[in-house]
Amino acid sequence: MKKILIVFGTRPEAIKMAPLIKEFQKDKAKYDVKICVTAQHREMLDQVLEFFEIKPDFDLNLMKIGQNLFTLTADVIVGMKPILEDFKPDFVFVHGDTTTSTATAIASFYAGAKICHVEAGLRTYNKLSPFPEEMNRQITGRLADIHFAPTIQAKQNLIKEGVDSDCISVTGNTVVDALLYARDRVDNVQDFQIDFLKSIVDTTKYLILVTGHRRENFGEGFVNICKALKQIALDKNVQVIYPVHLNPNVQKPVNEILGEVDNVKLIAPLNYPAFVWLMKQSKIIITDSGGVQEEAPSLGKPVLVMRDTTERPEAVEAGTVILVGTNTSDIVKQTSLLMSDNLLYEKMSKAHNPYGDGNASLRILKAIE
Ligand code: UD1
Ligand code: UDP
Repeated sequence: MKKILIVFGTRPEAIKMAPLIKEFQKDKAKYDVKICVTAQHREMLDQVLEFFEIKPDFDLNLMKIGQNLFTLTADVIVGMKPILEDFKPDFVFVHGDTTTSTATAIASFYAGAKICHVEAGLRTYNKLSPFPEEMNRQITGRLADIHFAPTIQAKQNLIKEGVDSDCISVTGNTVVDALLYARDRVDNVQDFQIDFLKSIVDTTKYLILVTGHRRENFGEGFVNICKALKQIALDKNVQVIYPVHLNPNVQKPVNEILGEVDNVKLIAPLNYPAFVWLMKQSKIIITDSGGVQEEAPSLGKPVLVMRDTTERPEAVEAGTVILVGTNTSDIVKQTSLLMSDNLLYEKMSKAHNPYGDGNASLRILKAIE
């Protein structure tokens, strides 16, 4: 029996690890699986755990309001030590590029466990964008023993860096597994957040869904983004709905600039089924989120990405996303172009999702076997 420890801490990691956890838990004879959350996020993590009915075996409960990278990194490494030493996992699974993933990879390396990296090989090769995620995933990639790359391009990045191709599996992204699971349930599930959304969505208007949280956009970037949304909302046929990330660096500018703007609804972060429901209702999504870019194509929603660099070139090539940066007039221009150019809209919404078919978790399990 192999001992597996699955570690995550933030909302997107939880969403993307949930289908893999379900897959491992199907085979109790082969795997002793334990779940550890660092709780780098608290409320936003708990929303996901609740929807996917995941009960962590270990909870480091680390989140502090306005936390910083130094103490968070140290706390994860120190917090993981007794868990790794007591459970002695054969494999530790980490995801993507958060502080939780990288610090856990370092701790697992110290403890002598094999490291499995899910969503491996994404790169911008720009150290500062996204910050600190680009270096987080490069460091985790150096430490990992087994790499689960979502796409062929991600695998090629790893090979270029000297990773043995036998240690890389191309699996698709598990976010598509999670999305399809949620998508099939949102129309039937009884959810108070979906009921709330039904009461605020104005079906006569053109719905634009917005999310944002990237550190490199803090300060001027967020001010520009908010100014753009304010201009977009001058059109009375538009409704902007924006579930605002709980990071204080996001809350402050967004509430200050958009708090009282007509046609803009600022709401709390949504649970996963409610967010998926809202994506389905929207016409366009404007975001700097990684996960949302990977989900939207499966729902046929064009995405404008408020970033200058991307580690997800597949989406740009497939035509499902356009990089618009954080310049106010560029965001406004691209949004109105997409709203007025039906051909462009159709092309973007009909493009194929390059991130998978919903079977990534199964492929990861097969590779481990
Ligand atoms: C983190 C990840 C980022 C990921 C993002 C997903 C790092 C360095 N950053 O960024 O890669 O894309 O999560 O959302 O790993 N907060 C709450 N409640 C919550 C969650 C956050 O109050 O449930 C607030 C707290 O004040 C917290 C702050 O947000 O200190 C920042 O959280 P943190 O995880 O450090 O950064 P994120 O911007 O969320
Ligand atoms: N999401 C959610 N509720 C929200 C906003 C986003 O459940 O209010 C989901 C979204 O569907 C995606 C993930 O959270 O799966 C993206 O998380 P985030 O943008 O915080 O992080 P990133 O993907 O950029 O790391």
